Amino acid sequence: MRILIIGASGTIGKELTPYLKENHEVLTAGRNSGEFTVDITSENSIKKLFEQAKNIDACICIAASGPLDNFASLTENQLQKDFKGKLFGQINVVLIGQHYLNDNGSFTLTTGIFADKPYKGVTGGAVVSGALHSFVLSASIELPRNIRINAVSPSLIEDSVKDFGHLFPGLQPVSMDRIVKAFTKTVEDTVSGQILRVY
Ligand SMILES: NC(=O)c1ccc[n+]([C@@H]2O[C@H](COP(=O)([O-])OP(=O)(O)OC[C@H]3O[C@@H](n4cnc5c(N)ncnc54)[C@H](OP(=O)(O)O)[C@@H]3O)[C@@H](O)[C@H]2O)c1
Repeated sequence: MRILIIGASGTIGKELTPYLKENHEVLTAGRNSGEFTVDITSENSIKKLFEQAKNIDACICIAASGPLDNFASLTENQLQKDFKGKLFGQINVVLIGQHYLNDNGSFTLTTGIFADKPYKGVTGGAVVSGALHSFVLSASIELPRNIRINAVSPSLIEDSVKDFGHLFPGLQPVSMDRIVKAFTKTVEDTVSGQILRVY
């Protein structure tokens, strides 16, 4: 399969990319990394990406991340800014990419455990992941030409404990191996409309 990974240079992407390369042709994209330049906060940039990276069977988006916030001072304005990348960026990858993906292709989006398990300081991130879960369900029955869509929802990954572990005491980290296998399943299996929770 010919797979486009947006966010391939990140913590997950740098492990997932070589794993998928063992059996597939993999193209990589990011704002400042990868073979193709894309900023998923821009519709024009996403359109340009799909026009350049032709003949895609599977598109995996692991770009952008959920924000940290302070509930007492959180505003609608702040939330709208925080929704731009991970929420609307990934939604736009699907809304635009549906017109370019090959028949029987697949999209994989990335969400996160805060959709299901509340933690302090991540209200916006929780809403982003919860909304994406609902989007995946709707898109799975709307997408044309037998195109599939799924999301992988990771808990804190062991590789990120050194950076973020102190923010989420008590959150049990998961291995990168489980995360990589979940993304691979969305590409190689026939599942659609699924949220693969790796908690
Ligand atoms: N790591 C964890 O423990 C963990 C746990 C739960 C959920 N997640 C979720 O998993 C996803 C990936 O996490 P990660 O830790 O791998 O992130 P990361 O290390 O920050 O990597 C993000 C990747 O996305 C690219 N990127 C960022 N903003 C972009 C944009 N606007 N347009 C295009 N590319 C963009 C970056 O490359 P450039 O800088 O070159 O653009 C980079 O390749 C996020 O949604 C995160 O919330 C991660």
